[in-house]
Amino acid sequence: MKKNSVMLTAVSLLFAATSAFAATGTLPKGYEKWEKSKEKVVSDKSSLFYGVHNIYVDKKAMPAYKAGGKYPEGSRFVVDYYKLKEENGKPVKGKKNMIVLMKKDKKFKETGGWQFVGFTGEGKASKLDPVKNCYECHLKEAKDRDYVISKYTDFK
Ligand code: HEC
Repeated sequence: MKKNSVMLTAVSLLFAATSAFAATGTLPKGYEKWEKSKEKVVSDKSSLFYGVHNIYVDKKAMPAYKAGGKYPEGSRFVVDYYKLKEENGKPVKGKKNMIVLMKKDKKFKETGGWQFVGFTGEGKASKLDPVKNCYECHLKEAKDRDYVISKYTDFK
């Protein structure tokens, strides 16, 4: 009986540890220096991606990003999103309002072996559900590209 409850505690601790890890996560230092896409401007207000964004890709992810196929463990993508403001009738880039991260990590089985984390514009993890708020859409859009939606060809 005693043994059982010890086991249970161990299991729930493990569970707490993994879910805390999934919800938090930190932004990789210096990602602004990775290879970066050109700025994308989405001016359609009905789009989820209304605003301006840049995609950053690390060195590990680059070969698969260019050639296709599975990404090696540790591959990382970061996207910075900025608001779009209007100045004298012209759209201009506003404040950063969201950052997202994907990191290839086989521990995250329920999200295709990628860790998905959303952050505020200041880089604070925003406790989004990685399955419902991230993975479901990536699964739908890019199942055959290891869940990476953008392409290197849209990069330049
Ligand atoms: C409704 C669909 C949708 C949801 C939900 C979504 N994304 Fe994406 N994501 C996209 C699209 C579309 C792109 C490609 C953007 C581009 O081409 O500029 C993208 C790109 C990315 C990229 C760059 C790598 C790639 O796949 O091209 C990362 C990192 C990313 N998303 C992380 C996240 C995270 C983390 C969440 C949850 C907090 C999330 N996404 C939720 C559609 C979605």
